[in-house]
Amino acid sequence: MLHSADELVDPAILDKVRGWRDYVEAKLGFRNHWYPILLSSEVEEGRPVTAMLCGENLLLNRIDGEVFCIRDRCLHRGVKFSRKPECHTKATITCWYHGYTYRWSDGRLTDVIAAPDTRIVDGNRGVRAYPVREAKGLVFVFMGDREGNVPPLADDVPPGFLDDDNFVIARHQVVASNWRHGVENGFDTTHIYIHRESRLIQEGNMVLPLGFAPSQTKSFEISDPEDGPVGVIETYGPHVVPAFEGRVEGETVLTVPSDITGKNLVPSTISMWMPCALKVDPWPSPTTTQFEFYVPIDDTRHLYVQTLGTRATTPEEERAFTREFNNRWAYYALEEFNGPDIWAREAAEEGYADDRQWIDEALFEADENIVAFRRLAARRNRGVQRPADIRN
Ligand code: FES
Repeated sequence: MLHSADELVDPAILDKVRGWRDYVEAKLGFRNHWYPILLSSEVEEGRPVTAMLCGENLLLNRIDGEVFCIRDRCLHRGVKFSRKPECHTKATITCWYHGYTYRWSDGRLTDVIAAPDTRIVDGNRGVRAYPVREAKGLVFVFMGDREGNVPPLADDVPPGFLDDDNFVIARHQVVASNWRHGVENGFDTTHIYIHRESRLIQEGNMVLPLGFAPSQTKSFEISDPEDGPVGVIETYGPHVVPAFEGRVEGETVLTVPSDITGKNLVPSTISMWMPCALKVDPWPSPTTTQFEFYVPIDDTRHLYVQTLGTRATTPEEERAFTREFNNRWAYYALEEFNGPDIWAREAAEEGYADDRQWIDEALFEADENIVAFRRLAARRNRGVQRPADIRN
């Protein structure tokens, strides 16, 4: 719900939030961060493609192999170029309406085809152009306004993701929930309750308890360097207590297998990284790592980017992992196991729809790692994306 031109969250609610106000306000995500928004294979040479990120309509194109990104809105009358993309030269896009023409590389207005001598082309006007990097088969866009001061992509992805020998296969889908429900579900150590009937447990030869609860000892660490990825790392060890038996008023109502003999013990760590990336390591097998991104599309949708990575240095190893991914993990891990995660996020969207739940929620000890990430995100974000950022 929009409360005023510049407010997505009721100020009365924000005033009651203690410790993570920016996080609650960041309904559209954080500004001045890198986000993966498309697969590299989805941006073809000379074929503009649309995307939405943090509420902004974007248009991307590949020119001589390099991907560029501009805002999909003409300065003149505000129409979208994507209604009818016209690229009369490789380096420019022309608005279909009156011929305002812009450079892909910097968004600068170069000509008005229907009025060649217009004074509006003064060398200063243009549409927003966003920095782009490609890595691991993904197109990352820097949703930011800090020209000349763009942090490295490595600061906004989990450690290890960009390693040269990390061979990654990625896919994505739109989920009907705010991005923060993706973040908090993935990093939630007791949400595995929803996975107790997953077929992946048998397929991966695993033992998965009903939940992990921290003992008296804090079960996570915070990585908070000046430069480099910022995140919260939950490590499984003696300080977390697995629950294999479910009781209601003293009566055992559920049990899951607890014998770990000969089983794969995965994962050992789960970590959440700014602005919106999860690392589950190892998962779903002892030789693979799942990296996920919950990318804000707008206030009620996120792009769920799922990737699996493995150490591979030769084309043969990459082909072997691609076969394993297609035959096994694409279904058992990314669809069957992660299906309930998507369902849970969409259910949480209902619960938090009017934002009051941010101050009404009854968190418990096991949510401490989530609270730690909220605090960290509120302190280390590089800006909150607001409705005014979309208009200007
Ligand atoms: Fe784009 Fe007029 S609206 S040129």
